[in-house]
Amino acid sequence: MASIREAVKVLPGQLKMDGAGIKLRRLFSRDEAVLMDPFLMLDHFGSNRPEDYMAGFPMHPHRGIETVTYMLDGHIDHRDSLGNHGTIGPGDVQWMTAGSGILHEEMPRKAEGWMQGIQLWVNLPRSNKMMPPRYREIKKEEIPVYDPGRGSSIKVIAGESQGLVGPVKDLVVDVKYLDVTLHSGVVLEHEIPKDRNAFLYVYEGEMMLGNRMPRKVPAGNVAVLGEGDAMKFAVGRKPVKFMFASAKPLKEPIAWGGSMVMNTKEELEQAYAELKSETFIK
Ligand code: FE2
Repeated sequence: MASIREAVKVLPGQLKMDGAGIKLRRLFSRDEAVLMDPFLMLDHFGSNRPEDYMAGFPMHPHRGIETVTYMLDGHIDHRDSLGNHGTIGPGDVQWMTAGSGILHEEMPRKAEGWMQGIQLWVNLPRSNKMMPPRYREIKKEEIPVYDPGRGSSIKVIAGESQGLVGPVKDLVVDVKYLDVTLHSGVVLEHEIPKDRNAFLYVYEGEMMLGNRMPRKVPAGNVAVLGEGDAMKFAVGRKPVKFMFASAKPLKEPIAWGGSMVMNTKEELEQAYAELKSETFIK
């Protein structure tokens, strides 16, 4: 019989301004990085008021991590030091492996209604922190959708679910990343291998999560899943929408400095020295 993972923590996050001025809810960050390993940070950014986001994220460096941006509404224009540029819109994904270093900007376009998305940071293992940077843009149409009916859906961004494989392949850290919508009244068990850390972020509606100690997870909260080999959730009268992520932990030391995450303080100092001397980009 499956041992059901309980929600060991429900994190409401904190409202913040980041970049040059972009409103966001930071669900977890460095204080939770060991607990969430290999996931470092999760931001739900955006607003329905352009003054809350138009300043965007101008040119900034990353090293040692991957940033994964998933758009819910509106558009972001981006360009980077690899020469990539483009626009991501609703349902599109940008999977950016900073590796040895990248400089990029992420600038929202003025929207009529909402401009919002979710950015996840995934740590890279020591052996890959200085790998050549890699950049992938995935359009909504490329993401396979499992349709269990009655308005539910599972979009497989990375990893495998329901026999579907996500378009983001050959990942250094084998992340499973799903965007799930479940209609009201669903009760479901879903297998998660024991050796993986997992969380889910409810961005609309609410659910009850767990088995022996079910906890309510309302919109705007991350639920951190404890030990076990499956999760179980029940959806009430309203449908629920959430992101699900799982991966094996790296169990390596974390040295965090702004938008760069290395293993040691010395590696961080080197990164900042290289930025200063303009030798950052390899
Ligand atoms: Fe960035």
